[in-house]
Amino acid sequence: MTDNRPIGVFDSGIGGLTVLREIWKAVPGESTIYFGDNSRTPYGTKSRSTVIRYSLQNLKFLETKDVKMIVIACNTASAYAYEELKKRANVPVVEVVTPGANVACRSTKNGKIGIIATKGTVSTGVYKDAVERRAEELGMKDIEIFQQACPLFVSLAEEGWWDTEVTRLTAEEYLKPLKEAGVDTLVMACTHYPLLTKVIKEVMGDDVVLVNTGEATAQVVKELLNREDITSEGNSNPVREFYTSDEPELFEQVAAPFLGEGLPSGTKHFSTDKYEVTV
Ligand code: DGL
Repeated sequence: MTDNRPIGVFDSGIGGLTVLREIWKAVPGESTIYFGDNSRTPYGTKSRSTVIRYSLQNLKFLETKDVKMIVIACNTASAYAYEELKKRANVPVVEVVTPGANVACRSTKNGKIGIIATKGTVSTGVYKDAVERRAEELGMKDIEIFQQACPLFVSLAEEGWWDTEVTRLTAEEYLKPLKEAGVDTLVMACTHYPLLTKVIKEVMGDDVVLVNTGEATAQVVKELLNREDITSEGNSNPVREFYTSDEPELFEQVAAPFLGEGLPSGTKHFSTDKYEVTV
C-alpha cells in the first residue's frame, strides 16, 4: 500500500541531521519532518526523567503532523526514552542504538568493541546491553566492550572544528584507553561524531572499523517501511520540513554544514514544552 505520510524525525538539536541525511540516501522518495529541540539542547548531560519528558513532548508534536513513523535520531533520547515512546506512540518507533550494536557485532573480528557517546548514553549502559544481546544471538563468545564518554566532541562538531589540531588532541586523549584496549570496531554512538570521522579514523588507525549509527538506522527505517507496507512509492516530490524550538535562522546557519549546500530552508519555530506529559 502506498503511504505518502511523512516520517517524523527528532533530535536534541542539529546532530540528528546526520541520521536524517542517511535516511534521505536510503529512502529518497520519503517525505520527512525534522524537529530539532535546539532551545533545550544538549540532552547528553540531562537527567533520565528530563530526557524522557522532552522526548514524549517531541513525540506529541510529531504525531500532530500525521507521521507514519517516528525516528529518535538522538542516541541519548534513544537510550533513555525509547521504551516509553514505543509504549505511547501510535506509529512504529525506530531508535538508533540497536542498529549500531548489530553492525558492530557483524564487523568485529577480535571481539573487542569500543563505544563512544555522551555521558548520558554511557551511563545508561544500553549500548553495552544491546551489543551483548546481539552477540549472544549470534553465538559470539568472549566479547569485550569498552565505553568512553566524549562530551567535548559535541561542541567541537557544532563549532565546525571537524579537522583541527584541538580536535585531534582531544580525540587522542579520549580514545587512548580504547586504543590501548585494542578495539577493532568503534561505534560512534552520538549523532555528532560522524562529523569528526576523519580525525577519529586518524587517531584510531585504518584497521579499526568505525560504525556510523545513522547509516545503520537508515537501513532499519527502509526495512521497516517495506515490512509494514507503508512505503511512499514513486513519490518524485518528497516534502522535507524542518522545525526548531529555537530561532529558525540560527538553526539553518548551524545545520547547513551538517546537510550540505543550501539546506535546510523554510524552517519554522515550535516549542514542544507546552505539551503536558506524565513521566
Ligand atoms: N544528539 C545527542 C546524542 O546523540 C548529542 C547532543 C546532545 O547531547 O544533545 O546523544
